[in-house]
Amino acid sequence: MSDYILILYYSRDGSTKKLAQEIARGVEKGGMEAKLRTVPNISTVTEKLEPSVPKEGDLYVTKEDIKNCAGIAVGSPTRFGNMAGPMRHFWDSTTDLWFAGALINKPAGVFTSTGSMHGGQETTLLSMMFPLIHHGAIIVGVPYSEAALSSTLTGGTPYGPSHVGGAKNDRPMSDDEKTLAHALGLRLATLAKKLK
Ligand SMILES: Cc1cc2nc3c(=O)[nH]c(=O)nc-3n(C[C@H](O)[C@H](O)[C@H](O)COP(=O)(O)O)c2cc1C
Repeated sequence: MSDYILILYYSRDGSTKKLAQEIARGVEKGGMEAKLRTVPNISTVTEKLEPSVPKEGDLYVTKEDIKNCAGIAVGSPTRFGNMAGPMRHFWDSTTDLWFAGALINKPAGVFTSTGSMHGGQETTLLSMMFPLIHHGAIIVGVPYSEAALSSTLTGGTPYGPSHVGGAKNDRPMSDDEKTLAHALGLRLATLAKKLK
């Protein structure tokens, strides 16, 4: 096992990616490397294959990234109160990792971005916990000792960090949203070290 926390996200328009980057800061504060990885988009029609390396941004996740991580954070935009198809598609391809017990006893958190305030953040966060629980990970939320959980007027939940992007997905991340993202990253790093 290596000393990094894998931050695995899908983000079409950048908001979930911003949260991933804030979680990475928290991981680094906890003295661990943060490895940011994404998943390819999927299409409902048969088109030419995407290149195996993205044109820009973070690399696509590999099975080795999952096997070797000390902990994991999984993030997706909210799509109709659920994780987005590309992230779900990725987890549907992980039977070999499940057989191998690749995530058993590793700390795992979840994060999301929505357009609207009450547009299904918690249901999306829970939906991303399901595959993690089946994989044997230890689910890590954000405790109420984090004052920002009580002061936030936008995103940030005990189930995991979140961002409310607004109808045009152009709202900047609030300080409370950032603080809670850092808190999850720090918690994952701290727990991963203790569990090793
Ligand atoms: C197909 C689709 C479904 C969506 N469903 C929801 C939803 O249920 N609730 C919500 O608040 N926002 C919804 N949104 C808005 C996105 O969750 C929001 O813009 C998010 O911040 C995008 O994240 P990204 O910038 O990482 O792609 C939806 C967007 C799309 C394209």
